[in-house]
Amino acid sequence: MPFESYEETLPFAAAIRRATQEKTMPPWFADPKVGKFSNDPSLTAAEIGTLVAWAGAKSPAGEAKDVPLPRHWTESWSIPRPDLVLKMPQAVPLPANGDIEYTYEIVPTNFKENRWVQMAEVLPERHSNLHHAVVYVRPPDSNWLRHAPVGVPFTALTLTDPEDRRGAHWTDSDVLLVYAPGSSPDAWPDKMAKFVPAGSDLVFQMHYTANGRAASDQSSIGLIFSKYVPEQRVLTLQLTNDHFVIPPGAPDYRVEARGTLPNDAVLLSFLPHMHLRGKRFEYNLIRKILGADGKPGYAIEPLLRVNYHFHWQMSYRLAEPRFLKAGTELQAVAWYDNSKANPHNPDADAEVHWGEQTYDEMMVGFFDVAVPAGVDKQHFFMRKQGNN
Ligand code: HEM
Repeated sequence: MPFESYEETLPFAAAIRRATQEKTMPPWFADPKVGKFSNDPSLTAAEIGTLVAWAGAKSPAGEAKDVPLPRHWTESWSIPRPDLVLKMPQAVPLPANGDIEYTYEIVPTNFKENRWVQMAEVLPERHSNLHHAVVYVRPPDSNWLRHAPVGVPFTALTLTDPEDRRGAHWTDSDVLLVYAPGSSPDAWPDKMAKFVPAGSDLVFQMHYTANGRAASDQSSIGLIFSKYVPEQRVLTLQLTNDHFVIPPGAPDYRVEARGTLPNDAVLLSFLPHMHLRGKRFEYNLIRKILGADGKPGYAIEPLLRVNYHFHWQMSYRLAEPRFLKAGTELQAVAWYDNSKANPHNPDADAEVHWGEQTYDEMMVGFFDVAVPAGVDKQHFFMRKQGNN
């Protein structure tokens, strides 16, 4: 349903009036009272008024001289033309039905020198089968999935080495980017970039879902490199709780995760992740305070509140990146609707636990931070003396 010309847009005039008035379009799920985000596409009241007036006035075409120039699209990428495209070397066959284990493919970068990535985008070949892709950076000195085959698809079940098998379920390797339906590609602010050391591999973790038709997928990642060595390195961190039990039918079940920043960092963006029972998600700063009665208590400052929708997994980029001191406590809170009233609920009678399949649940609050360019994830988690 492109709206690129008058002729294309005209039949949707009434739907556009309704969708913009009801604020279902453009898609955005953050509570407007909390935080300001640079990728917020929400229309102003005046813009909505213009569209409503246009639809109400029989949708006139306007003056020919005001028609904008046609947009130029670059080979389906949303980022500008990538400097490098790395494709999964082998296609992954996808069955018509049944669960599909997380599928991995290790893609060598063959980088002879360290590279800094300013923008990145996953281009799925088979959108309708891809629930998510997480692309990790595996530096040459990392033992993660070290005995796993390179350039061919594999799952935890096909690995023989027990350490590799564990690695197919958990890693602390840095994430280059996360793709999920509705997500936008990553572009880090000026002077900040993701680091890919020379000789690294990219590890594609693909979660496919069957949709009734057998198919195959061979997705790609497009990279745009920084023009110079940035001052800061971007790390993707997460607040996770994987030991919840959501009772059958629970309409508003709360799950929380907390973490303390071991070192100073600049907070950049958020990406909440739950599955089909996800309802709301919020990120907060928690500060210890002394109450009026002199007793210690907590002050909670909300950073983001999202009315979660599984089909629209968006990242929320702070309009003003925020400096956080070592010792800052962050909290993520997720709410789940496991009742019959949730139209996406696959089974309201099920007790729901953490799991990789869509009918299981997850609670992950991804967030990006910028740290000094020389600090990697391991060093970031070493507390400096004096940091509490
Ligand atoms: C001012 C900007 C936008 C307008 C006026 C607009 C308008 C609309 C309208 C009229 C519909 C049909 C709703 C209905 O059937 O009742 C729709 C659906 C949709 N739009 Fe938009 N849209 C906008 C921005 C966007 C953006 C930025 C995206 C993608 C990031 C998007 C993705 C979609 C999708 C995927 C649907 C189908 C949703 C569904 O069936 O659940 N739209 N939009």
